[in-house]
Amino acid sequence: MSKYILIIGACGQIGTELTLTLREKYGNDQIIASDIREGNDDLMESGPFEILDATNYDALEEVIAYHDITEVYLMAAMLSATAEKFPMRAWNLNMNTLFNVLNLAKEKKIEKIFWPSSIAVFGPTTPKENTPQNTIMEPSTVYGISKQSGERWCEYYFNKFNVDVRSIRYPGLISWKTMPGGGTTDYAVEIYHKALSEGSYTCFLEEDTNLPMMFMDDAIRATLQIMETPAEKIKERSAYNLAAMSFTPKEMAESIKTVIPKFKIAYEPDFRQEIANSWPSSIDDSIAQKDWNWKAEFNLQKTTETMLENLKNRV
Ligand code: SER
Repeated sequence: MSKYILIIGACGQIGTELTLTLREKYGNDQIIASDIREGNDDLMESGPFEILDATNYDALEEVIAYHDITEVYLMAAMLSATAEKFPMRAWNLNMNTLFNVLNLAKEKKIEKIFWPSSIAVFGPTTPKENTPQNTIMEPSTVYGISKQSGERWCEYYFNKFNVDVRSIRYPGLISWKTMPGGGTTDYAVEIYHKALSEGSYTCFLEEDTNLPMMFMDDAIRATLQIMETPAEKIKERSAYNLAAMSFTPKEMAESIKTVIPKFKIAYEPDFRQEIANSWPSSIDDSIAQKDWNWKAEFNLQKTTETMLENLKNRV
């Protein structure tokens, strides 16, 4: 089957690995990467790339027509910590790109969309443990408000216009190929880099802040899996809860010490603590398990060993 897929935000933390994985699967030339800036060498050298600002509907439509695109993965977004500093920019970026893609699908110019949601859709009034798929959602961050609204619009476009849009509420994502940017869960990546380069890390969250997390390989597998599932099996047209593990910075430090015994951690919580406090500490993803056979493979220890091994080899 020959299909052309466009990745928007291909140079970011998720976009980079998603592009490389899709290229391996469908062939380099089938996967068109795009972003507002160029990405790392692996990404740029492995297939077609377009400079594209997806808030610009005409520019997006042109790229889609030129490359005969049928599927779009919209990975461009401003994350939670940065969005608190630039609320209007975050809202405009996160919402306008989504509307552009949804409207292109409504006009039958593309057939299928992946759009990521986040655990940030939940808020301080949400049940914190084992947070269910359907529950109170009163996000208290700009980013969370944009993702929650996005979910409502995705479901609306599916119900009213039969737009095939699929979404996952990603937990904090841990990866070694590309750095995250501007999120509250970024500590869980920075800590490995600092453990190797300095043997110590000062964490911007308190030691007992328990958050849902996932290793990138699991997140990419989930993304491909939900996109390959027959449309009638995708019952949640807002976004699916997804889980792999939950841990605190202290538990993460203990895990790193099993590999680097001298590793030291200190805590200096900043404004991101309040964001973290508003999010769940664990997620019930049984509906994703049931609807499209989701199952995570990486726990904390396996993540630690994989991260340190790959980062060490890269240095
Ligand atoms: N990991 C993201 C953040 O911290 C949440 O989706 O902003």
